[in-house]
Amino acid sequence: MDCELAPHGGILIDRLVPPAQQTQWQAQTRTAPTLTLGERALSDVEMIATGGLSPLTGFMGEADYRAVVDTMHLANGLPWSMPITLGVTEAVAEALTLGTWVRLANPQGENIGVMELQELYRPDQEREAQRVYKTTATAHPGVQAMVAQGSVYLGGPIWVWQLPTPPFPEYYLPPEKSRQVFGERGWRTVVGFQTRNPIHRAHEYIQKCALEIVDGLFLHPLVGATKSDDIPAAVRMRCYEVMLAHYFPPQRVVLGVNPAAMRYAGPREAIFHALVRKNYGCTHFIVGRDHAGVGNYYGTYEAQEIFREFDPQALGIRPLFFEHAFYCPRSQGMATSKTSPSLPAERIHLSGTKVRELLRRGEAPPPEFSRPEVAAILIAAMRG
Ligand code: ADX
Repeated sequence: MDCELAPHGGILIDRLVPPAQQTQWQAQTRTAPTLTLGERALSDVEMIATGGLSPLTGFMGEADYRAVVDTMHLANGLPWSMPITLGVTEAVAEALTLGTWVRLANPQGENIGVMELQELYRPDQEREAQRVYKTTATAHPGVQAMVAQGSVYLGGPIWVWQLPTPPFPEYYLPPEKSRQVFGERGWRTVVGFQTRNPIHRAHEYIQKCALEIVDGLFLHPLVGATKSDDIPAAVRMRCYEVMLAHYFPPQRVVLGVNPAAMRYAGPREAIFHALVRKNYGCTHFIVGRDHAGVGNYYGTYEAQEIFREFDPQALGIRPLFFEHAFYCPRSQGMATSKTSPSLPAERIHLSGTKVRELLRRGEAPPPEFSRPEVAAILIAAMRG
């Protein structure tokens, strides 16, 4: 396999306990205290266990946490932009003992794995908020989720024997599988596309621009926790399916779901998203306008500019940057200011909020913004 496809840190992490050893593990850790995980922590556990967050083998200890917050690198010097932490309340922390096992349970109370509790530390969450999210406002969904997890962080490696049931089984492609699929297709270059929104024509345009220069597109929508007004994953998946059926050559695209939770950290999350896609086997990654942004917290191209702060070799995945794409009435096609002669006032582009407003009124987004098949799915979903 092409060496460009090496996972971050060189080895694809696998923290799944083989079925033959599960009974033994469960028996050995039976008396350990149980920690019930929320939806976000559960996503992180799944991502760590299946290698999506390679080289992480568990939740970050203090040295990695501090290094990531302050320098956007792990303590060993590898680029890494988002803290991956397991927070608990003081009350929960008091009942735990360092150096022992903690049983991890899903919200249904089932024991899904264990963590070796190597560290227990109290982070400076205000500093974390400011450095990672560039704001301390609790209205920011990422800051909100960080605070909600609790003010004591637990660090240590995990072992997992039960993964969540995949919500979209036919598109469940953990890194080992996605790498295999790309290999089977003979793709030497693969561009990853992150999205948390229904696919619109600007997405399609930048995906196809990228497809002109690489072998394959890995359409990798995030289906973990998102903020409550984002369009639900099940609706989005129908939109991706209909797009692929009508507008893309099937042999050039793979659709797979990304079980991670959305953090809305804009520039920092763009780096993180790229590293995750590297682990899934991508060589390139699309970063468009306001990637992983929310509200007005980040500048339109900050998520592109941040890549300059990293050594491209150390990142090991090539970002492909795209300007704000829109429909250009003069040239009657999708374009950006790099390719369109139109004046700003002539350009047709809608914000996610605007589209949601239209849909709520039962109106279809215009064909210049959304393919009609996608618009029909969105309208039907809004009507319930
Ligand atoms: S995100 O939070 O996952 O980034 P979204 O699903 O809207 O949100 O975006 C997916 C990718 O498409 C991101 O890289 C984003 O920057 C890019 N993108 C979205 N809309 C546009 C647009 N009109 N022009 C250029 N890039 C865009």
